[in-house]
Amino acid sequence: MHRALVTAAAVVVLGLGTVLAACGSDGGSAAPAAPLSAAGQNGRQVAKEQGCISCHTADGEKGTGPTWQGLAGSTVTLEDGTEVTADDAYLRDAIVRSRGQVVEGYPNIMPVYEGELSEAELDDLIAYLHDLAPADAGSKEPDGEGAGGS
Ligand code: HEC
Repeated sequence: MHRALVTAAAVVVLGLGTVLAACGSDGGSAAPAAPLSAAGQNGRQVAKEQGCISCHTADGEKGTGPTWQGLAGSTVTLEDGTEVTADDAYLRDAIVRSRGQVVEGYPNIMPVYEGELSEAELDDLIAYLHDLAPADAGSKEPDGEGAGGS
């Protein structure tokens, strides 16, 4: 008698565990390989709110648009065959003036975000893209750049 009860309880617990685990993996995107910076976390939030993640993934999977994993700092081939480096200026343009440069092999359907995103949101998005390309860490803005001189 007791034995059967214990077994039943175990089954229920196991079942619950499975459901919870399934929820966890469905609810958000898979945990990123690299830890996100504070700005990167904001950027991920912006990407969710703006619906970017309906077309872009952070895990290397090809979506409607190219994945964001490893994008920052990589070489991107555009529709017309030009090769460009995905530096911050490129990323910014790709987001706000998406119609200007189209990645080879993808339709020119990305919405234009000019005027939709604040500067801060753009910066956060770009920080997020950098976080998703850990190999590019070296090309982040150096801290004590003495460009100003005096
Ligand atoms: C309706 C689908 C869609 C949405 C929503 C969307 N994009 Fe895109 N995005 C694309 C497609 C398709 C491309 C590739 C064609 C192109 O370059 O326009 C692209 C290209 C890009 C690129 C350049 C990628 C590369 O490999 O060079 C970046 C960066 C980007 N999107 C960021 C964003 C951000 C940030 C948002 C949200 C604010 C967003 N996208 C929302 C479809 C989308």
